[in-house]
Amino acid sequence: MFPKTIEWRDERIFLLDQRRLPEEEVYLECADAAAVAEAIRTLAIRGAPAIGIAAAMGIALGALRIDKRDFPSFFHELLSICDTLRQTRPTAVNLRWALQKMKGVCEAHKGMDVGVIKERLVQEALAILEEDIETNKMIGKAGKDLIQDGDTILTHCNAGALATGGYGTALGVVRRAWEEKKGIKVIATETRPLLQGARLTAWELKKEGIPVTLITDHMAGYLMQRGEIDLVIVGADRIARNGDVANKIGTYTLAILAREHSIPFYVAAPLSTFDQTIAMGEEIPIEERGEEEVIAFGGERIVPEGISIRNPAFDITPHRYVSAIVTEKGVIRPPLEEGLRRIWGEGYEG
Ligand code: MRU
Repeated sequence: MFPKTIEWRDERIFLLDQRRLPEEEVYLECADAAAVAEAIRTLAIRGAPAIGIAAAMGIALGALRIDKRDFPSFFHELLSICDTLRQTRPTAVNLRWALQKMKGVCEAHKGMDVGVIKERLVQEALAILEEDIETNKMIGKAGKDLIQDGDTILTHCNAGALATGGYGTALGVVRRAWEEKKGIKVIATETRPLLQGARLTAWELKKEGIPVTLITDHMAGYLMQRGEIDLVIVGADRIARNGDVANKIGTYTLAILAREHSIPFYVAAPLSTFDQTIAMGEEIPIEERGEEEVIAFGGERIVPEGISIRNPAFDITPHRYVSAIVTEKGVIRPPLEEGLRRIWGEGYEG
């Protein structure tokens, strides 16, 4: 069974505090939208789909605490909650996707009693959570044949149950292959600076009994050169219309290495991670985080005073390096833009 990332209980949100894993499995209780925004900002909850779910629940929680009875005043306060949540993390489009969905619920019930709208918002947030788990299982099923018995799979960051409502995207594909009794092994990169691979992916896979070996980020090329990696599979924070992928910093490097060694490079993501308003990767906003994350390691300063620091949290992998994208609607192979257009159907604005 996969861990419960986030839960709605008694008009409160409980989220597994990922800052404290793997040492402690504790749930952080959020009683209002501001607490949820802070949890997202500080990565107590992280991973594109999980951020979307947390934001949707944060709005539902925020809505319950609004005391206005007339729709315009209620909606005005709700929009301000949406703004606070939107500003937490800029790259993962699932956050904006969830905010749009929640706003849509309000607008669709405009003439109704505010109490009813609040109920609908809670229902919608819970539905987003349930649908995400189902979507991930569909992604797992769609992608399982990309993994053969005996394969060694390299993954980066954490695109597992912890990064979603449950089951995972990239790790959902791995999980499904494992459930089908394929003898697989996973190589997890540690993922500097916040160590999502070392702390979270290793923890999650170990819990499931899936064999996992940890490497530091720059060891990947060595293993590929020695023929020790059969495929790479990662998640995504946002995918542009042409198939360019924003994902955790270091993903681009892995994609180039994979191409050099003729190793397939797969991306697994739900349709909520695709941004139809963005034509290509360079338009995707990349979050730059604080220098303290790079300056210290395990709480100890490792850099001399006065050194300038960069800390981009994501990078863009051009679509030409992507062998396929696994979605809940199936596996899209190059030319990706064409495949994406087919999946989106008539509504596609390419
Ligand atoms: O900074 P994080 O930990 O939120 O970054 C997460 C990633 O980059 C994941 O690979 C991505 O969100 C996909 S999660 C299914």
